[in-house]
Amino acid sequence: MKLGSCIVIAGLAAIGAAQQKVKVMFLGDSITEITCWRPLVWSQLASANLTFSIQLVGSMNSIPNSCQKPTGFDPRHEGHSGYQAYDVARNNIAGWVRTTTPDIVQFMLGTNDVNIGKRNAQTILDAYTSILGSLRAANPNVHVIIVKMIPTQWSDSTIEAVNTAIPGWAVQRGTAQSPITVADASRAAGYTNEMLQGDKVHPNGLGDQFIAKQVGPVLVRVLKAKLGVV
Ligand SMILES: *[C@@H]1O[C@H](CO)[C@@H](O)[C@H](O)[C@H]1NC(C)=O
Repeated sequence: MKLGSCIVIAGLAAIGAAQQKVKVMFLGDSITEITCWRPLVWSQLASANLTFSIQLVGSMNSIPNSCQKPTGFDPRHEGHSGYQAYDVARNNIAGWVRTTTPDIVQFMLGTNDVNIGKRNAQTILDAYTSILGSLRAANPNVHVIIVKMIPTQWSDSTIEAVNTAIPGWAVQRGTAQSPITVADASRAAGYTNEMLQGDKVHPNGLGDQFIAKQVGPVLVRVLKAKLGVV
């Protein structure tokens, strides 16, 4: 209840800052870069008449040729194949957001920390915290949407441990000025092995649909709050 009214106040402040577009960043790894859920989320934003009110930001503009792209789709993003949250926190994020200063950042990171870096859950959560600090340094009012990771086919226990810890992390780190909202693409939320490609790690078309279904409505809700639209 308290948090809700603060979001409304933030929304009114956004109206006051006349016509400024809300800057949205999709941050992640290959699951953000080389997959097709971003166009699906764009279609949801278009259905909600929100695409005129936003500006996607990021240093990347790749999108696989195989993706169906809705009219007006903006491919900008900050998804980097192979990147670990650990390295993004140390080497990349501060530079990526210094000039783009996103108002909303949606991110799913950690899969490469587990598969490549062999890092533990706490190290990944610490990287999230460090990333959050950089986002807030660039924009103290940033609203973060953190996404619980999709599973690997073998249901990696570290991924599951991070996912389990994410809601507590969000409550602990979220503030009225810079809220954190959780979106859930995890196995517990319904992600199945049938939604994975043959590599057992990346989403296929069904996975893209699932991620869009879990992320899109959260983004729509957060955007409407920022814009003060009911
Ligand atoms: C969609 O949004 C634009 C600008 O944000 C507004 O001018 C227009 O009236 C909206 N259209 C509908 C159908 O609500």
